[in-house]
Amino acid sequence: MVVKAELHLHLEGSLPPSLVTKIAKRNGLVVPSDIFGENETFLWADFLHFLKVYDKASFVLRNAEDYREMTYDYLARTAQMGSIYTEMMVSPDHAALCGVSFEEHLAGVVQGIDDARRDHSIEGRIIMTCVRHFGVEKCINVAKNTVKYLHPYIVGFGMGGDEAGFPPAQFAKAYQIAHEAGLGCTVHAGEMVGPEGVWEAITHLPVTRIGHGVRSIEDPNLLAALRDRDITLEVCPGSNIALRVYPNFASHPLQKLRDAGVKVTLSTDDPPYFDTTLTREYAIAKEHFGFGENELLEMTRNSLEASFVDAVTREKLLAKVGI
Ligand code: ADE
Ligand code: ZN
Repeated sequence: MVVKAELHLHLEGSLPPSLVTKIAKRNGLVVPSDIFGENETFLWADFLHFLKVYDKASFVLRNAEDYREMTYDYLARTAQMGSIYTEMMVSPDHAALCGVSFEEHLAGVVQGIDDARRDHSIEGRIIMTCVRHFGVEKCINVAKNTVKYLHPYIVGFGMGGDEAGFPPAQFAKAYQIAHEAGLGCTVHAGEMVGPEGVWEAITHLPVTRIGHGVRSIEDPNLLAALRDRDITLEVCPGSNIALRVYPNFASHPLQKLRDAGVKVTLSTDDPPYFDTTLTREYAIAKEHFGFGENELLEMTRNSLEASFVDAVTREKLLAKVGI
């Protein structure tokens, strides 16, 4: 089994329907059944609808134990697939909407990471993530709280949500707060918007990684800029096909980006929504892009090198990759 690592995973988006249902029951909540598909998947029609279904499922998370269980469940499952490291995006705004404080949801995620390390030898770190369509002020607030309640496991700051409706430059202040506190920064860009979205992100935000960034392939000058600035792309091929960023793997630019000298990595994004797993993403790279074992290990290595984890832990993890 190839050793794996993952940089782009929305923790709330990792909840499979069975766990949503279990947690809902524990909290005396009823989840609308029209959000569930067959075989542990969700039903949604397009990107904006996906975001709404994601909000409905996340709505069951009501206390630290829910966050602990969600974190442990994902890390334990993905460790069975050969993963040694997951960087998890967590949304304090989703917690707040359910009456869970920043400190409480953080405590749950931290406990989940510790429990998973004890039982499954996998390491985890947190990227506090704001939601662009909740607005600039809310994003600044997430950045301020991240700095206020900084914990050694919080290593990064990120932003997801409606990319087309909310371009990145207006969020510069939120990123500045996180960056000045020493956090690594990443942002979703070049997923629902073309290369101009990535240009704006790397021009106005202190990012060393881009979530997705796949549409950078449309602009050779941008590819050169990504290369020159050593920016790593968090590529999620299964997500891109499910959300119809590309019609099929044959037209997906993973291999072309790599050939252009841009650092690429493999992640799942929101696995049950896109009917994927980390194993499947590595299998996609093998079957559709011809990656051999060395190229797959290169993806793992790229992930660890671009991760926001501390240097000592990174070296320990890289030693496990064995190349
Ligand atoms: N939030 C969760 N998944 C996302 C994605 N793929 N793009 C933007 N925001 C998200
Ligand atoms: Zn994402």
